[in-house]
Amino acid sequence: MYTAALKQLETKIDTINEEFKTLHKYNPIEHVSSRIKSKQSISNKLKKKGLEPTHENIVKTINDIAGIRIICSFIPDIFKIADMIENMQGITILKKKDYVTNPKPNGYSSYHLIVSVPVSLSIGTIDVKVEIQIRTMAMDFWASLEHKINYKYEKQIPKSVKKELRDCAKMTQKLDKRMSHLGRNLMEQEEQTVKEITTEYTTVYTTAATALLSENASL
Ligand code: GTP
Ligand code: MG
Repeated sequence: MYTAALKQLETKIDTINEEFKTLHKYNPIEHVSSRIKSKQSISNKLKKKGLEPTHENIVKTINDIAGIRIICSFIPDIFKIADMIENMQGITILKKKDYVTNPKPNGYSSYHLIVSVPVSLSIGTIDVKVEIQIRTMAMDFWASLEHKINYKYEKQIPKSVKKELRDCAKMTQKLDKRMSHLGRNLMEQEEQTVKEITTEYTTVYTTAATALLSENASL
């Protein structure tokens, strides 16, 4: 169920990336990764919530059994990708968390979506939840290391390390802003190209669709 949901979403994200590459001259997605939460992790999470390890509790309360992470180049790409996902047919947005505009107190920054996608099985169609995290490379760098440090200290991070991590997060945000500023010039230059290509697309598609329709009518 979860593997099928991930595959469907990965295909959709791949399409977004390809479309973006055609329309704009750059590739907004650096890379995409996905994972299914391990049994151990699921069990730990239920314990933490004080819930029995039943299938019902798993499906109802754990939103991140299937997870996709999209790593973007620049901050504006995060919002563009999120917007494209939010407007896609066949995806229902259940929850949004924008830690890019409002980072967590510890400095964590990322854009989170909990979505559901219909998966067709022989017994019927089931809506499956997937967590999508969208962030820049700099945000990912910070989050990966913070996660490792957290793990090492078993969530009891000393105050001095916490402060250091917050400082590093601030540096990360500054770096992202500067890089995004550089990226803006790149994006502005392409606006005109996008308009031209979009017009060309529309013309080609309309012509092709009209031809197909008249062909069908003569059958
Ligand atoms: P869970 O933490 O998954 O139970 O969900 P939540 O309801 O607290 O949602 P939230 O959006 O805050 O976090 C979801 C996921 O984002 C987590 O499972 C992590 O993968 C990631 N995340 C959230 N906060 C942090 C953080 O402070 N550091 C790191 N490294 N990752 C975080
Ligand atoms: Mg999680």
